[in-house]
Amino acid sequence: MIQIKDFEEYKAMYAKSVSSPGQFWDEVASSFYWQKKYDNVLNWEFDSPTVKWFEGAKVNITENCIDRHLEKRADQTALLFEPNEPSDTAQSITYSALSKQVNKLANGLKKLGAKKGDRICLYMPMSPELAYAVLACARIGAIHSVVFAGFSSKSLADRINDASCKLLLTADGFYRGKKYIDLKTISDEALKQTPSIENVLVLKHSGKPISFDAHRDVWYHSLVETQSDQCPAEPMDAEDELFILYTSGSTGKPKGVVHTTAGYMVYAEYSFRNVFQYREGDIYWCTADIGWITGHSYIIYGPLLAGATTLMFEGTPTYPDAGRFWEVVDKYKVNIFYTAPTAIRALQAKGLEFVQKHNLSSLRVLGSVGEPINEEAWQWYHTHIGKGNCALVDTWWQTETGGIMISPLAGITKEKPTFATYPLPGIQPVLVDAQGEEIIGNDVEGNLCVKFPWPSMLRTTWGDHKRCKEVYFSAYKDKYFTGDGCKRDQNGMYRITGRVDDVINVSGHRIGTAEVENAINAHDKVVESAVVGYPHDIKGQGIYAYVIANAQVENPESFAAEIRAHITTEIGALAKPDKIQVVAGLPKTRSGKIMRRILRKVAEGVTDNLGDTSTLLDPTVVESIIDSRALVS
Ligand code: PRX
Repeated sequence: MIQIKDFEEYKAMYAKSVSSPGQFWDEVASSFYWQKKYDNVLNWEFDSPTVKWFEGAKVNITENCIDRHLEKRADQTALLFEPNEPSDTAQSITYSALSKQVNKLANGLKKLGAKKGDRICLYMPMSPELAYAVLACARIGAIHSVVFAGFSSKSLADRINDASCKLLLTADGFYRGKKYIDLKTISDEALKQTPSIENVLVLKHSGKPISFDAHRDVWYHSLVETQSDQCPAEPMDAEDELFILYTSGSTGKPKGVVHTTAGYMVYAEYSFRNVFQYREGDIYWCTADIGWITGHSYIIYGPLLAGATTLMFEGTPTYPDAGRFWEVVDKYKVNIFYTAPTAIRALQAKGLEFVQKHNLSSLRVLGSVGEPINEEAWQWYHTHIGKGNCALVDTWWQTETGGIMISPLAGITKEKPTFATYPLPGIQPVLVDAQGEEIIGNDVEGNLCVKFPWPSMLRTTWGDHKRCKEVYFSAYKDKYFTGDGCKRDQNGMYRITGRVDDVINVSGHRIGTAEVENAINAHDKVVESAVVGYPHDIKGQGIYAYVIANAQVENPESFAAEIRAHITTEIGALAKPDKIQVVAGLPKTRSGKIMRRILRKVAEGVTDNLGDTSTLLDPTVVESIIDSRALVS
């Protein structure tokens, strides 16, 4: 696999990737194990959109993640597992053991009737079995749809139904910090409305008692125990779907982003090696949850494709105390550490004493992902965690891009705090203005698009190709639109400024304002609501909800508590508004559109210079919203 060594080489590779993309990607792809080599590197047009990489190939990603490493790495650790509770047993799984576990589960899934093309939903704790499950699905050609184990039963049911999943894999439950998540009970609730599910495979993880439906539910261990540890890898076409991952957008319903086999595979390893400058023998730790794209690409696929040792952590940064991350770095002598700005800010706020107790000298590369990293957090991370001598990569990418798009290459690209710096070779970002014209030159700002395909880009949104076209390929002709605003400095370095659509980024998680509004509006005491983001010290953005109630609210505190509890059941605790303000009306234009610009300003605490309000149907509404700010709970 191509691994860039210095900035001169980066520049040469970048130039080549633009002038001869076919040849460039052909070289990148040459190190993989192809059951049958592809005939064609790329075939595309963005109008429909149709994007096909490595057509004609037969390939299975698990042979590349596992089998091809066995000759050299059978006894090397593939997966390290650190449990939530420090005193619980940690695990170390070799490539040989991983192979056995994945194959056994793959055979188990087949026994339950799963086959190529079936959708399988994984709603599981961060346990090694979740990694086995992802890979077992890929082994037999089933499409995995991982649902983050913090979503509600309703969100789980919606996602199962959207993709008509045949099987659900879940567990009895697990602890996240001190909080117990009762996965089986939540699943049972969801299963009341998911007719496509035939069986539920249940992992015994916490050991707590659960309800068990003998006709439908199967214990993970009893199924897997009796299976052979050999399972042939399903020959997949390059463009066969590998997985679906749901993400929020500016409309109410989350969309199932679809990634396919060969292109995703090639880009996952290529980006992993080059961005983090992986070295043989490194211990690599990404703190994300596998329920998000970061976990898919950079806990499982990228590192395993590279034959690395990847650490999976079940817990949280602050349990049992704010030194947990650093204790784990010290325990495993982690070399590459990848986390989110929200975690850095939260730990920064707890003080240096938690850092100083631990030896962090093994660290060589630090990474950041999920949201813009502010200068203060960047400096703290660099100085106190990296001790001033680690590379720090601010990696910009999205669920839809499948892998890191704009980022320094660790130790190679000159860093600039808060800048994701330069695109990886093969990635052609452009900035566009309000008229859709490409903005040429440097020291400019615009909306971020990509004008040429890359192997791991989304291919469609599950069951709704039209939506994929509308959301990503229609705003600007012949370009993929990211939904992000972006600056390019005088040296051509990129800095992502945040979303320009109605999506808010809370602790690195994307939440559609419309989705939260729909949930609030479904409450029987609510007439209407409007949700906006506002700057939050730890989370990056917080959720601010303006709510019109259908009767006089006597006690705003208990009303807000009711709304929050309602959101937790409708979506999940991660979408709970930080602030709820009861209002008498919302600022609407004559055509009935809510003027969010004003609501955003008020949420930020700005009460004068609110801009032009002359197009409002009733400008006095704004005054009353400002006046009722005291009622925020
Ligand atoms: O707004 C950008 C922000 O996160 C969005 C993508 O969210 P999601 O699909 O959940 O994937 C997150 C993990 C890849 C982007 O549209 N974002 C992600 N990384 C950065 C970022 N914003 C600024 N800097 C980043 N490094």
